[in-house]
Amino acid sequence: MSQMQGEIISAGAPSSNLGNYEEAYANFNWEDVEKQFSWYETGKVNMAYEAIDRHVDEGRGDRIALRFNDPTREETYTFKDLKEKSNQFANVLRSQGISKGDRVFVFMPRSPELYVSILGILKVGAVVGPLFEAFMETAVKDRLEDSGAVALVTTTTLLPRVKRDELPLLHHIFLVGKDIEPEAGIIDYFKEMEHASSDAEIEWVNREDGLILHYTSGSTGKPKGVYHVHNAMLQHYYTGKVVLDLKEGDVYWCTADPGWVTGTSYGIFAPWLHGATNVVRGGRFSPGDWYDTIQKNKVTVWYSAPTAFRMFMGAGEDIVKQYDLSTLRHILSVGEPLNPEVVRWGYKVYGHRIHDTWWMTETGGQLICNYPSMPIKPGSMGKPVPGIQAAIIDDNGKELPPNRMGNLAVRTPWPSMMRLIWNNAPKYEEYFRIPGWYISGDTAYMDEDGYFWFQGRIDDVINSSGERIGPFEVESKLVEHPAVAEAGVIGKPDPTRGEIIKAFISLREGFEPSEELKAEISRFVKEGLSAHAAPREIEFKDKLPKTRSGKIMRRVLKAWELNLPAGDLSTIED
Ligand code: WT7
Repeated sequence: MSQMQGEIISAGAPSSNLGNYEEAYANFNWEDVEKQFSWYETGKVNMAYEAIDRHVDEGRGDRIALRFNDPTREETYTFKDLKEKSNQFANVLRSQGISKGDRVFVFMPRSPELYVSILGILKVGAVVGPLFEAFMETAVKDRLEDSGAVALVTTTTLLPRVKRDELPLLHHIFLVGKDIEPEAGIIDYFKEMEHASSDAEIEWVNREDGLILHYTSGSTGKPKGVYHVHNAMLQHYYTGKVVLDLKEGDVYWCTADPGWVTGTSYGIFAPWLHGATNVVRGGRFSPGDWYDTIQKNKVTVWYSAPTAFRMFMGAGEDIVKQYDLSTLRHILSVGEPLNPEVVRWGYKVYGHRIHDTWWMTETGGQLICNYPSMPIKPGSMGKPVPGIQAAIIDDNGKELPPNRMGNLAVRTPWPSMMRLIWNNAPKYEEYFRIPGWYISGDTAYMDEDGYFWFQGRIDDVINSSGERIGPFEVESKLVEHPAVAEAGVIGKPDPTRGEIIKAFISLREGFEPSEELKAEISRFVKEGLSAHAAPREIEFKDKLPKTRSGKIMRRVLKAWELNLPAGDLSTIED
């Protein structure tokens, strides 16, 4: 094992919400968490109520819920403001006949309107479908089509990427922008909001009713719609308490976009269930601007990703000294392996431990984590959240002893576990192929102290800068390019991004390899699918390794790339 298992950074905060880990784990009971919610008595469930309106009802309406800033706007909203604005949007949705169970998508950059829209959608009992703003035509269409979305909230800038003529079910587009020309099916967001009442009835739902549909990538096929229900709030609330360690008066900043699950579970639900002030920053990454966001907003709890921390490390120590980061109390990370040297650097330079957390779109919430009150072993993802039983199992479901690598699995169920893969029961069942377990697709081992150590993915899913990319989606786009005969896509290890996307391509007759062609093909993916899915590296090959049934063997491509033995080639074509 490559990690330095013996290295320990001692517990930071014995007074944190969790207290002693072993004790909390042993005494845990989900019913104690349920009792925190009024629906335990009333039966009236709705995430938007618990996240926003409840704070108003309980006298916390004047607290700041949202501090938004991007290069062009700087705005602040109280819980009362968000309650009223989301009521208005709920009324706008209802005026168009949108109701419980409908899928309503949001496709826009981070803005106050994005958060108001999501809350309004939940208030009418509809299911939110977030789309990352970098998605292009194909990515947008695939997701809207698969989900049967009836409505979309988007901006005038992004609207051209929505192929309306190919989406017959998409009846309503709420358009955020200026000077909107009247057109069938287009609803002027600001104009309608102006006339809408700020009083609205909340649609009370069942705990098992739909909350959110996050599309994510696997190694084969189109992206899968991971369906979560309102019951997930138990996990969001509890982990917000013991993992984010949220306390009264916290100013919390999650750097993820709501297009990804971190940006909703921990960029919306967990902080607001706790009544924290949620900082949202739009615009691109820049070390100075990000440190400035912490300084200006007096951020106390900060949740980000290894890629960002590696870029901060690259930017050096001097720039840290130019900002006052003294309000920070707790730092967390998610999305990809957090390098031990980054943990050491953060400890030295920020004076705080960076707490790694492990979970997935499918799990809906954090499952294996580091806690303020527990020693950190740099390079380890930590230990299971109380209420969660994780293990390393072999392919037959047998639990493996410490220090043996195998499938990272979790005992079913838990409150925020996905309830469906939309339209695809077989894909859903694959995760649960071993009775009693959820199979994550990650490999890991557990050491003798019960700490989990990430080892890799079983499948070909690529993790670039913490964003999950399915090679199939990229390959499908590549072969649409007139010069491309065949394409195989892999993740190539990269010091900053974790992995970058590398495409191996064989060209059609009449096309010659050139640097211009590489750039042009990469741009084709960027403009047709998404910037984050575009290959950063392309290599032309006369032929790609394929199985006899014609499947491109990504495993062999990866072995070429890494100069490793290619393994069993018995199924290769020639
Ligand atoms: C995959 C899930 C939900 C968080 C954002 C990513 C990888 C996630 C860690 C970690 C090593 C990690 C896994 C996982 N991953 N967290 N702490 N250490 N790897 O969600 O896009 O659904 O991706 O991200 O491979 O399976 P996602």
